Amino acid sequence: MDDVHILIVGATGYIGGSVLSKLLSSQENAVRKCEVSALVREEERAEAMAKLGVTPIIFRDLDDVGHLRRVVSEHDVVIDMAPGYHAVASKALIAGLGDRKKRTGKEVFYIQTDGHPTLATARSLAHTPNREVYAQRTTVIGVVEAGLASGVKTYVIMSPTSYGLGSGIYNQLSIQIPILIRAALKAGRAEVIGEGK
Ligand SMILES: NC(=O)c1ccc[n+]([C@@H]2O[C@H](COP(=O)([O-])OP(=O)(O)OC[C@H]3O[C@@H](n4cnc5c(N)ncnc54)[C@H](OP(=O)(O)O)[C@@H]3O)[C@@H](O)[C@H]2O)c1
Repeated sequence: MDDVHILIVGATGYIGGSVLSKLLSSQENAVRKCEVSALVREEERAEAMAKLGVTPIIFRDLDDVGHLRRVVSEHDVVIDMAPGYHAVASKALIAGLGDRKKRTGKEVFYIQTDGHPTLATARSLAHTPNREVYAQRTTVIGVVEAGLASGVKTYVIMSPTSYGLGSGIYNQLSIQIPILIRAALKAGRAEVIGEGK
């Protein structure tokens, strides 16, 4: 089997950094044979990735969609751990994988982290007369549709709040726990839904 090229988006983040370190320390043969690249926004971060044995690719940001599509078309798997509400970027990543599939005939995969609020918020919006658009859910639906249309296998992971020390080299703390702590300080108590079950 040819080597599999994996691209990580959000490798400097809490979740992406931990996923990357897990991949790099894996003893699985199939994983050890993979080539791993990471999209990063700064030169200094690119150098740090290279020291880990990861091929760094500098990009401006998630709006840099033409560049994203070209970069992704050289990869078989995208693990996207950047903010999950950026629909345009997600579509560009899937389009790049679709280009790769057309060229090589090989299966390609897109894996994205989203959060469980997509389920909770979407459900509460469904009960609201003036339904608002919820960016994260719009992105998830766009991801699934784009994957089906282009033959890219897509997986959206709706994980709950993640906490504990991350194993990436940059953000090692979850962005969500400080939000909960600030809310508890403001309210004077830790807040729960209903009976807190
Ligand atoms: N933390 C949780 O408990 C949790 C639970 C479930 C789901 N999630 C979801 O998982 C995703 C990542 O969460 P996280 O906690 O790992 O966040 P994080 O630590 O803030 O990491 C975000 C990553 O995305 C990159 N990024 C952010 N905005 C960008 C932009 N405009 N252009 C390019 N790159 C950008 C950051 O790059 P730079 O280093 O260059 O800024 C960083 O690598 C989010 O979608 C979040 O909603 C998080």
